[in-house]
Amino acid sequence: MDQNEKKRLAATAAIDHVEEGMLIGVGTGSTVNFFIDALGAMKRSIRGAVSSSEASTSRLAGLGIEVVELNDAGTLDIYVDGADEADPNLHLIKGGGGALTREKIVAAASQKFVCIIDDSKLVDVLGQFPLPVEVIPMARSYVGRQLVAAGGQPELRTGFVTDNGNQIIDVHNLRLSDAAAMETRLNQIAGVVSVGIFAQRPADLLLIGADNGVRSMGPTST
Ligand code: A5P
Repeated sequence: MDQNEKKRLAATAAIDHVEEGMLIGVGTGSTVNFFIDALGAMKRSIRGAVSSSEASTSRLAGLGIEVVELNDAGTLDIYVDGADEADPNLHLIKGGGGALTREKIVAAASQKFVCIIDDSKLVDVLGQFPLPVEVIPMARSYVGRQLVAAGGQPELRTGFVTDNGNQIIDVHNLRLSDAAAMETRLNQIAGVVSVGIFAQRPADLLLIGADNGVRSMGPTST
């Protein structure tokens, strides 16, 4: 089975967690696109969706799903999003698509975070995938030096501007065996808007698409 089919399986399984009348947070990326398409085809009606990117907003709106501003929504029932890596603690690396800051905000505002991935993204220890860090442009060089001091090799994502008008530094070779501690450390650097480690607010449920179907991992299954 190819990777896209596994993504589609995981995304379709997430629909089972969507109930009539819910307000749903929607992430960004190719896996979530399958989820948005399944939401559009779903028979139950939802109250609306809060989107984490301009790209997801367009796709939701194109399917006639009402997009609600987070400021008008209050606490969301559920957030569904993909990830670039996930570990057995349900800690994640996100931001490969550059939407990490809005994703982090929407995840924080949601009661339950369902993360949908294909099985290539499940790892023992996070960090093979370069860690995306969103930075205020004027702080780029300063933040880069601090990232070197933290043990990483920063690389500016060239030609890319986030939906918030900022830049992304992808950090290679960081030691993330204590992902929550590194998240806290990098969050303290002046000029960092957000860090693609989701350990302080991990997923509540992982749905993993694989050759033999969809496997679930929750905090109790580890
Ligand atoms: C977007 O910024 C990311 O956090 C995505 O959630 C992540 O990169 C997963 O994307 P895919 O579903 O396209 O692999």
